[in-house]
Amino acid sequence: MNAGPRPDEFGAGERLAVSVRDLARGFGEKTVLDGINFDIRDGEFVALIGKSGSGKSTLLRALADLDDDATSSGVIRIPDNLSVLFQDSRLLPWQNVIDNITLGLRDADARDRGLAMLRDVGLAGRENAWPNELSGGEQQRVALARSLARGPSLLIADEPFGALDALTRIKMHELLFRLIAVHRPTVLLVTHDVDEALVLANRVIVMDEGRIIRDIAVDLPYPRDKTHPHFADNRRALLSALGVVTHV
Ligand SMILES: Nc1ncnc2c1ncn2[C@@H]1O[C@H](COP(=O)(O)OP(=O)(O)OP(=O)(O)O)[C@@H](O)[C@H]1O
Ligand SMILES: [Mg+2]
Repeated sequence: MNAGPRPDEFGAGERLAVSVRDLARGFGEKTVLDGINFDIRDGEFVALIGKSGSGKSTLLRALADLDDDATSSGVIRIPDNLSVLFQDSRLLPWQNVIDNITLGLRDADARDRGLAMLRDVGLAGRENAWPNELSGGEQQRVALARSLARGPSLLIADEPFGALDALTRIKMHELLFRLIAVHRPTVLLVTHDVDEALVLANRVIVMDEGRIIRDIAVDLPYPRDKTHPHFADNRRALLSALGVVTHV
């Protein structure tokens, strides 16, 4: 049986999924992004970290074309079929779970696909539940199902697990990892959590004051072993780029 691509094949593609050149962006007089350049290859899993206010969300919102009030220059090339995941699930409270997942999907098999995604995120049988009947972690799993039901070639996520407790977050990492290995979107994930970046991504971009200051390849096998000496090396390099001095 073909079990699908192995997770350690992340990043194998050579085609560019995302290309950003000389991106600058500001609000009124305030410059928030300043000369951003990077590419993401098809199938890569890139984590974006940086201090609070460094411009991570603004960069994601620029990619997803979500800010009307920003002034912007530069070139962004991105696939049309992208899905966005936020820290809060943004489910519509007046729609049940399955209608949230299939919202806006017009094809005949959308419901079946939505139910299959719901099963994949471990919520089989909850299709008629209302969002407020679900826990925060369950709501995020529905949001993930909604994102992936669109068959995105790019998934961009802004701290999607930031509001979850530590245990639920670890479970979400495993779930995301498993689903990504099957559905194979390119991923750009914003996180505050250095370990989350190192467990999931094969590349980590560090931002500071609206610029990219580091771009680190994480050449560690999956599943990531936090006790691996290179894991600690990468963690130290990232913390140092974030201005955190560590003695561990
Ligand atoms: N719509 C807006 N109008 C004015 N300023 C904005 C707007 N959106 C963002 N900013 C400013 O841009 C800067 C970067 O914000 P951004 O939300 O991108 O940071 P971030 O890196 O995502 O931070 P955090 O880790 O806290 O989420 C901040 O100083 C913020 O005040
Ligand atoms: Mg943010």
